[in-house]
Amino acid sequence: MTPQILQAVAPAAGMARTHGIDAARYWSALMDLGAITDPLQPWTRRSFSALFIEGRDWLRRRFDQVGLCTHVDASGNLIGRIEGTEPGAGCIMIGSHSDSVPGGGRFDGIAGVIAGLEVVASLADAGKRLRHPIEVIDFLAEEPSEFGVSCVGSRGLSGFLDATMLARRNLQGETLGQAMLRMGGRPARLAQAVRRDIKAFFELHIEQGEVLENATLDLGIVSGIVGIQRLALGFKGQAAHAGTTPMHLRRDALAAAADLVGWVRQRAIELSTGTHYFVATTGQLGVTPNASNVVAGETSLVLDIRSSAQAMLDRFVDELQIGALAIAESHGVELARFDPLSSTAPARCDAHLMTLLRESARALNYGAMDMFSGAGHDCAFMSHIAPSAMVFVPSRAGRSHCPDEWTEPAQLAAGVATLYGAVCAFDASAPL
Ligand code: GLV
Ligand code: MN
Ligand code: MN
Repeated sequence: MTPQILQAVAPAAGMARTHGIDAARYWSALMDLGAITDPLQPWTRRSFSALFIEGRDWLRRRFDQVGLCTHVDASGNLIGRIEGTEPGAGCIMIGSHSDSVPGGGRFDGIAGVIAGLEVVASLADAGKRLRHPIEVIDFLAEEPSEFGVSCVGSRGLSGFLDATMLARRNLQGETLGQAMLRMGGRPARLAQAVRRDIKAFFELHIEQGEVLENATLDLGIVSGIVGIQRLALGFKGQAAHAGTTPMHLRRDALAAAADLVGWVRQRAIELSTGTHYFVATTGQLGVTPNASNVVAGETSLVLDIRSSAQAMLDRFVDELQIGALAIAESHGVELARFDPLSSTAPARCDAHLMTLLRESARALNYGAMDMFSGAGHDCAFMSHIAPSAMVFVPSRAGRSHCPDEWTEPAQLAAGVATLYGAVCAFDASAPL
């Protein structure tokens, strides 16, 4: 790591107030929270880690500063609330997540949490009080965690976190339920904690692809979010001497895994040419014993399969199981594991909230397009319990989940200002 990489970048001069929001305040908060990172691997703040807790402490102080009343809910989400003028009205919720993947996440997640804070601070600056309460949320563990589960907090809040997931253990033997308790959650109370009072959920996020940049547009109004299926697979062969074991007698678990990686890629290419969005990735590979002069005895793989259509996900998983068994047989190894880790259904964003975001962008003279999200988001779970919508801002060269993830301050400000306009419009027009 060079010291330079951790330096905050000052916002462009003269960008103090943009359409009701304070762009410089937003940017400096983003840089401050982003700087809470593993210095050896910027920009890392893994869920449940000491750095994650430090980031949450930072957020809690900010929540207090802007006048939010803060608590951690049963799912381990950090929530700050400010009451509206109408007693008993359902709330407008705004947020995203503050955890990151390893080596990525300078903007992925925190841009949306801090956008919620900026909306609240800007309302206070303008002396405006909304009719509805507003809640700003930092969802727990949106990225795939060490327990193999992603979107822990939004699954919990919407009733999709089950006992099997809570019982999953990390390498240290801690269960997900225990880790949630450590974050201040109460997993035993999840069933009673599903929220039914949210009138609108908004999430601002970086696009994480290059559609907006190529179209030279300011914003994406998200129409839907991919469904994601994650699977763990394992092959068990026989560890053997690499010099003395003849090729035809090997039971090579790594050769089987290599064939499987190729199978996944080839089938995904075929399926991606249809009308539905489809991608599949083998992102994790473990090899035992992982030595240059030993034929591998065991391999473990984690697959991430995404589509806009649930039927495509189901079809791929069925075909994969048949393909994996055939590959195992051809290498004389055993398919020792074929376990779904998590499953998220494809989601649709709310048409009315999309219209409000579109109109807000138009009123501020920003160019926007409707677009589908190939990345997963907490919004997908929120859409099961509340009208939900997302606004995307461009990502430089489409890069994300890597250290060079970048969005210009003015591009983020456009997203936050659009969100602010849409929240105010929703509040003014929606039934309580
Ligand atoms: C979330 O970052 C995802 O994996 O799409
Ligand atoms: Mn991410
Ligand atoms: Mn994210």
